[in-house]
Amino acid sequence: MDFTDQRLSYEKGVLDQQSVPESPFELLKAWMNEAIEQKVQEPYAMSLATCSVDHTPSVRIVLLREITDTGIVFYTNYESAKGHDIAENPNAEALFFWHELERQIRISGKVTKIDADKSAAYFQKRPHDSQVGAWVSQPQSGEVANREVMQQTFEELQAEYPENTPVPTPTFWGGYEVTIEKIEFWQGRANRMHDRIVYTQDSRNSESVVNWATKRLLP
Ligand SMILES: Cc1cc2nc3c(=O)[nH]c(=O)nc-3n(C[C@H](O)[C@H](O)[C@H](O)COP(=O)(O)O)c2cc1C
Repeated sequence: MDFTDQRLSYEKGVLDQQSVPESPFELLKAWMNEAIEQKVQEPYAMSLATCSVDHTPSVRIVLLREITDTGIVFYTNYESAKGHDIAENPNAEALFFWHELERQIRISGKVTKIDADKSAAYFQKRPHDSQVGAWVSQPQSGEVANREVMQQTFEELQAEYPENTPVPTPTFWGGYEVTIEKIEFWQGRANRMHDRIVYTQDSRNSESVVNWATKRLLP
């Protein structure tokens, strides 16, 4: 297959260093709100790249569940392949691509486990059968002989925890926060002259609030 003749001109918006807000969190939330208004499908689906201690990168989609004052939160199995990567090397990068808006956002920083009580509160909010599913997928990313084995475990757990019976929160499951140390906003433009504005942590003021520096990058 050859795609060398396939190209689009991106012309839906502009991003100007002079008019971006001081805090990247403000811009991140504004872009997320626009993506929701423009009905981008699952705008909170992000690619998450991790890297093992032997320098092997891995990338997969996870769902953004919260933007906090310091970073972004997703939930997963702590004993999954990504969980092992993060335990060995906390550096990660998350990426959103919203074709409808011709926008990309890249977030990099260190990943830490969120508070266990907060993870439990979210786990208990999930649909009953998703809670059961989390117990089936243990360890996530481990090999399973076939689908029937998974299905059988699912049915056994459903029998143990029928609908309306609380499913215990697994200790191997919970949230991670990617602290935003660097975040790049990319707006596609015509002729490959794209706008790229990157925020990095600069200093902290007397109340320990981060001051952000911005730079324009060549596209
Ligand atoms: C749209 C979409 C959303 C997903 N959301 C999550 C999620 O929030 N958490 C998660 O652990 N896996 C999620 N997955 C599955 C992951 O992409 C991946 O298969 C799984 O987490 C195992 O990854 P790992 O082996 O690299 O640890 C999602 C997949 C897709 C396509």
